[in-house]
Amino acid sequence: MAEKQITKIGILGAGTIGGSVIKVLQDNKDIITQRAGTEIQIKNILVLPHEIPALQEKGLPATSNFEDILNDDEISIVVELIGGVKAAKTFMLQAMEHGKSVVTANKDAVAQFGGELFDAAEKNHVEFLFEASVGGAIPIIMPLKNSLTANRITEILGIVNGTTNYMLTKMTEDGADYDTVLKEAQAKGYAEANPAADVEGKDAARKIAILASIAFNSRVQFDNVSIEGITKITPKDIQHAANLGYVVKLLAIGKESDAGVDVRVHPVLLAKTHPLASVNGVFNAIFVKGYPINEAMFFGPGAGFPTASAVIADIIEIAKEIQTNSIGRFGCTCYNKKPICPIEETVSSYYIRLLVDDKPGVLGAVATTFGNAGVSLTSVAQTNSTVEDHAELVVVTHKVKHKNILIAQDELKKLSVVDEISSVMRVES
Ligand code: HSE
Repeated sequence: MAEKQITKIGILGAGTIGGSVIKVLQDNKDIITQRAGTEIQIKNILVLPHEIPALQEKGLPATSNFEDILNDDEISIVVELIGGVKAAKTFMLQAMEHGKSVVTANKDAVAQFGGELFDAAEKNHVEFLFEASVGGAIPIIMPLKNSLTANRITEILGIVNGTTNYMLTKMTEDGADYDTVLKEAQAKGYAEANPAADVEGKDAARKIAILASIAFNSRVQFDNVSIEGITKITPKDIQHAANLGYVVKLLAIGKESDAGVDVRVHPVLLAKTHPLASVNGVFNAIFVKGYPINEAMFFGPGAGFPTASAVIADIIEIAKEIQTNSIGRFGCTCYNKKPICPIEETVSSYYIRLLVDDKPGVLGAVATTFGNAGVSLTSVAQTNSTVEDHAELVVVTHKVKHKNILIAQDELKKLSVVDEISSVMRVES
């Protein structure tokens, strides 16, 4: 390795992740210096004007002018931790145009503008790393790009949103309803005051867009992901799922299929025996299937203070590349342009709960309707309903294309004995 030098970095943002990166760079300075082969020095921190005094009191450099970082030739790495898309993207592109490598935790920007950001990195001969954008502290981007690179990945299943995993865990453990656990998650600071991005599955969709792009070597963007959140999940469905041997989880799914890259986020009934079924609370995990690895799971904290672990790993990687003159080792890996599998062509087993009239011939009519739509049934169970003269039917299907389930639903709605299609969820076993 070349002569020891100081690697100077500029950090954009000193919020939860920025603050933790600053603290861990100080706390673990000895081992970080040893492992990087160079001291990592914070040359400047971009914050809002009112945040400057607090940093300066701690002896840290701070500015509210991005130009101070952009035009500082000593800074070789810009660490973008301000979040949001517009300003963050502009700052990252400008930093790269000024010959600086970029580390980010910004899933929104990577999922939406990954291609553009990679192009800028390549054009300017700099590195662009984003380990912290998916799964917080969990190593998954580098393992996919590096340690697992010999594998033909066929499937990625992720619990990549801690807020919804916490909420579904509480609904399962306490039998509580959606509104109750949302309030609890907000009180604990897990869910935002406006929880839409988490509960509607958008946060998880950004993360699976990033993972699928890397796993299948083809760019998947946020708007390629079919998304359904957890807002319609009821304690009743969680109870039925438990009786059938499943837990309800919000999964981010990426699969290679004959019809293209199948990429979606939605709640599923997940077999209790699946390794992801025991990932509870705010924890995240990513389950990877491929050849020859077969199966591997990456588990850990998906947000908060530990995320500094992933951000600093990227900084160290670039610091080592600078010393060995190997900048750009981890460039874009989207070599192919694969089609996105239309949602109608995706294949799953389904759980369907119906409210029906409790009278002779109803089961037969329902089963015939599924059959006519090309949907084969695995099991049908009838339970009592609180609605007088009605029963609940819980149906589990064999694997079938989504378009057949849509046809079945349309036809079921036409049956006078079917009062309501109460829920439809996919099953992963
Ligand atoms: N809101 C995310 C979650 C954390 O609940 O997991 C940031 O990605």
